[in-house]
Amino acid sequence: MNRRQFLVSSAATTSFIAGIGFAQSSVRALPILPLSDFTKGIDARIPLTCGFGRHDFGTGNLSDTYGINGSYLGPVLRVKQGQTLPFDVKNTIDQVTTLHWHGLHIPGDVDGGPHQEIYPDALWSPDVPIVQNASMNWFHSHMHGRTAQQTYKGLAGVLLIEDDASLSADLPKTYGVDDFTIILQDKTFDQAGKMSYELTAEVFEDGFEGDTMVVNGAIAPVVQSVPQGLVRLRILNACNARFLELSMDTGPITVIASDGGFLPSSVETATLLMSPGERYEILVDMGTSDTNTLNVNLNGDGGFLAGLFGGNAKTPALTLMRTSEAGFTGAMPQRLANLAPAKASDATVTRSFELQMDVGADLAALAMVWENVCGNASAMAINGLPMKMDRIDEKVRKGDTEIWRVSVDDMLHPFHVHGCSFRILSQNGSVPPAYAQGWKDMVHVEEGWSEILVQFNYDAPSDAPYMYHCHILEHEDCGMMGQFTVT
Ligand code: C2O
Ligand code: CU
Ligand code: CU
Repeated sequence: MNRRQFLVSSAATTSFIAGIGFAQSSVRALPILPLSDFTKGIDARIPLTCGFGRHDFGTGNLSDTYGINGSYLGPVLRVKQGQTLPFDVKNTIDQVTTLHWHGLHIPGDVDGGPHQEIYPDALWSPDVPIVQNASMNWFHSHMHGRTAQQTYKGLAGVLLIEDDASLSADLPKTYGVDDFTIILQDKTFDQAGKMSYELTAEVFEDGFEGDTMVVNGAIAPVVQSVPQGLVRLRILNACNARFLELSMDTGPITVIASDGGFLPSSVETATLLMSPGERYEILVDMGTSDTNTLNVNLNGDGGFLAGLFGGNAKTPALTLMRTSEAGFTGAMPQRLANLAPAKASDATVTRSFELQMDVGADLAALAMVWENVCGNASAMAINGLPMKMDRIDEKVRKGDTEIWRVSVDDMLHPFHVHGCSFRILSQNGSVPPAYAQGWKDMVHVEEGWSEILVQFNYDAPSDAPYMYHCHILEHEDCGMMGQFTVT
């Protein structure tokens, strides 16, 4: 039994007896997140206001939340390659925050990382150039030491990039009809039905794991009627710490895109493992079956419930119900994008990163001075050092192709790098599943090495460096993060 299993096994029994999730009596409709579509043009600055909200997840009671232009989460921004997005990000909560564009290939000074702080009542107005291809990206708080709580409370949203090819592709693309943006999160609710977030020592160890699945802000399961034909789901795992294993009721999942854009051709898989921060687009064939359900196994990381109870924690998340209307009539696409195989021999630099859970008391004390938030006397680190805002850990030369090798000392972690998309050469020492062989900005690391092939093409100077970190947000806040420049 390793340290993690020991820590969780004491807590496991009590939380299991308390039941999985908040009492679920009825089935809710899938909330369609408000769409702001800029693909036809932008004629004014784009306001995004981070503020307080009150939101009913379906418990019948209002929870205190944050939202962006709303009471919980943000709008879905749909934009086009070649545009520059003139954002006006206003902070009306009572804490300093930042808004990071996760997945975007943009310079460090508009990246929205922990150096671009937005004080209460202040405005941050970055002009964000969209250079990359069609892809599903997202934005979320990245305030050093507070990312976990602020994102959990609702400071997150989705940014869909389209390009000429994606707009003319033979794919479902009518938002809210046959093309849905799905944000998956796990939450915990108290007796009164209010969302809660408690930071215990175990929470810092594993990251916060809620017992209730929430889809676009509504407690699962949710239902949505759809026309006949193919339906596209663009899915984000916006959990703080949970790996989710997705599966469909009626057969394999057809994956068409990963974090950084389309796969060369669609990939069928029985299960799709999504770490926090990952995005995948899938197609569901509603031509033959009347209903089809997307299930989520909350123990995608093979966590303690999987061990204790045979791993059967599969919950229905979203049920699609077919109407008699005609919808998207195209066929499953064969070719989606041109993507050359990743060529490791292109790399001229290799860097190694070890994600560390245990750094000892001396470093833990320093980690607190460096404003890492761990809630107890421990700290986390990468290569022996917890995050420090005024230390640059790596210096990358612009345009170089590099191999980054990532390992861990314990547990399964999702590693993320800013300012790029990369290709996964190996994941835990093996070839990644076919659906993870395209453009990515997240890689899983548990045993052995995970290796990525990456190139950075935008500037990130020392006053606006990029981050690399574990996307278990509590680990990130606790110091499992580092910074690098690109010059
Ligand atoms: Cu999604 Cu550095 O973050
Ligand atoms: Cu990011
Ligand atoms: Cu981690």
